[in-house]
Formats: sequence, C-alpha cells, structure tokens
Amino acid sequence: MTRGGQNPDVNDPAAVPSSTVPSAGEPVPPVPLMDPKRAYDAWGPAAEQAVVEVLRSHCYLKGPRVAAFEDAFAAEVGVAEAIAVDSCTDALFLVLRAVLQDRPPEAREVILPPFTFVATASAVVNAGGTPIFADVDPATWNLSPASVAGLLNERTAAVVPVHIFGAPADVTGLREVLAAAGSNAFLLEDAAQAVQATLGGKQAGALCDAGAFSFYPSKNLAAVGDGGIVTTDDTDLAAMVRALRDHGQTRKMYDHDHVGTNSRMDELQAAVLHLKLAHLAGWTAERRAVAARYDAAFAGGTLQPQAVLPGSASAYHLYTVRAPERDALRARLQAAGIGCGVYYPVPLHRQACFAGGQEGACPEADALSAAVISLPCFPGMTAAEQDRVLDVLAS
Ligand SMILES: Cc1ncc(COP(=O)(O)O)c(C=O)c1O
Repeated sequence: MTRGGQNPDVNDPAAVPSSTVPSAGEPVPPVPLMDPKRAYDAWGPAAEQAVVEVLRSHCYLKGPRVAAFEDAFAAEVGVAEAIAVDSCTDALFLVLRAVLQDRPPEAREVILPPFTFVATASAVVNAGGTPIFADVDPATWNLSPASVAGLLNERTAAVVPVHIFGAPADVTGLREVLAAAGSNAFLLEDAAQAVQATLGGKQAGALCDAGAFSFYPSKNLAAVGDGGIVTTDDTDLAAMVRALRDHGQTRKMYDHDHVGTNSRMDELQAAVLHLKLAHLAGWTAERRAVAARYDAAFAGGTLQPQAVLPGSASAYHLYTVRAPERDALRARLQAAGIGCGVYYPVPLHRQACFAGGQEGACPEADALSAAVISLPCFPGMTAAEQDRVLDVLAS
C-alpha cells in the first residue's frame, strides 16, 4: 500500500517491488506500478534551467509563469478560464465554496460517488456541504446516473462525477437525469486523474460547469510538489475562485470582499508544469498503447478491465481490472516482482469520517473495492516489461 494509504505514490515501496531471483539464472528486474523517473530525460534538463530562472527572477508567487501556465492549460482543455491552485483538494474545495456559500445550510447536499479518493468528499464537508453517496456503474465504475436520479431533490446543490482512473464518467447521462428532475444542480467534474481524457470530442475539464485537476507527483501531469487547477467557461465563477484562492481579495491588496484562503500555485510549479504540458500528449498516447495491449490480452478472460464509454478515451492514470481472487492475485504479482495497487480498498460511504452512515447503500462500490487491482501502465514502460506482466497473469 501507499504511504498515504490510498493515493498512488511514487515513493511507495509496494509500487516498486524488489527483484525476484528464479531458481536458476540472473535476477529478474522488478516491474514498477509506475515510474515517473523514466520520462525525466525528456523534461528534466529544461526544468532544471527553468527552476534556476525562477530563482534568479526572485518572483515566486503571483508572477508571469502562473498566468502563462493557466492560459496554456485552458487552451489545452478547451475552456475560457483556468485558475491554478495548490492542489486538487483545494480546486474542488474552492469551487464548492463558491457554489455553496449563497445557499442555506439545509440546501447544500452534494451527490458524489464513494469509489474515489477521500479528497472528493472531504472538499464537500470543508466547503460546508453534505456529501450524499450515489452508487457507481458496475461496468464503468463511475457515478451511475440512475443512482443519482434517486437522490436528487430540492436540497441538491451540486453533483460531482469523478473520472476514476482516467475514464470519463457518463456526463451526458447525468445531464439527462438533472434535466428530467428539473434540477439546476451544479456539475463539478473531479478530473484529478483524467487530464486529456475525452468524451464526445471534448476533454475532461470541459465537460461540466467546472473541473478540478491534480498535479500530485504521481499524476499524468505531475508537478514537483503539490499543484492543482480549476477549469471553467463561467467567468463569474472564475473570478470568485481567483479571489478565494488569495484571501478573498478582489480589487486590490488588503481589500477583502470574501473570507478566502491561501491556495496559490507558485512560480516554480507553474514553470515546470508548463514545459511538461508540451510532452503530455505523447505520454498519454504511450499509456493508451499499453492499455490497448492489456485489453486485447484480457478479452474473454477472467480479468475484467474498466469499461470505457463509447465515444470516449481514458487517460489511463491507472490501468485497473476486476479480478475474481484479487488478494491471491496481488500476492502472486508481488512475489513475481510486479508492482500493483488496490485503489480504493474502503469506499467512502464506509469511512468513519463521513459517519459511515450509509452501509449497504452502494453495493456496486463495495463489490469493486473487494475486487479491483491496478497493473503497471506508464510512459516509458518497455515491451519486455509488458510481456512480463502478461506472462505472470497468464500463469
Ligand atoms: C480522484 C481524486 N480527487 C482528488 C484528489 C486530490 O488531489 P491532490 O492530491 O492534488 O489534492 C486525488 C488525488 O489523488 C484524486 O485521485
């Protein structure tokens, strides 16, 4: 497992198992779950130079590099506005604060899936909302529109689909159930794992009223620390999030219209992320090629990969399958030196911090937590490493 418990971590020893020594011959090198170091040659030298430039500029916050990265990211996603913040947790929190702050406390229900990282729900609570867990679809593992339909009411302020593992949620289906219920609930996509995923020709981050991304170091677009961003076409919302990330200041310094927080991205992260953005399409293509190979190998077998909606493309932050005897398989993979991970072993509706109040309400999420396992899939993964994963699984 990861140090943090549920967040795929580049420093996680389980993600980088030790070599195995067969009874005869050379030790077999391990295959990590992910290995961001592989791509370093492509971006590292330029980043080292960019970091020195930022240091020598003595401008570390609120400078031109953050603004330039925001423009580049908005253009990449295809939205009018991108607001850089210091994590996806805060990206979710700040949008929800903006959406919830004018509503009475009893009308701040936010519907979200329980099969996600804890930050999706903690952002709801920290923004003054009440998380309401709807079940996930058994094939896509994302928020089920039918389950959401049963929970919508006049108290619903927002619905937060999560594009889990990088596969787009059924945003079209969600819009249909909102329209059928006459609900004007805000749609916020948690795209932490889904940069460059697409649905119907649009990128994640441009599918809902707003999107939230993570640049945590294990993410597909990774900062050299924490980072996140909000995307939206709504210029009023963008102005509010910009104010809230910087102590609620709007017109000028020391002029506070709102109670905000400090959630600014710094110039170092923006400089590095901006130059890595230029490589992202290639890295995403590499992830998709590995995933296509696994998909072909697993077709008709007992391992069931996450289904990707027609007309959509996953960003494959994690290539994950449902496995009949998951824990035995995990032990076998680890013994064979193949990195793997279980995300997420306990769904959020069963977590004590959310009162554990909805036991049994999300059976599909429960079943997934008991059966999923993520396999190595990352840019720079060699064909020989893919062969090894497939050989061990075939045995
Ligand atoms: C689905 C999801 N939402 C939110 C987050 C929080 O992102 P961050 O670590 O940037 O705060 C993560 C991070 O793992 C995530 O996977």
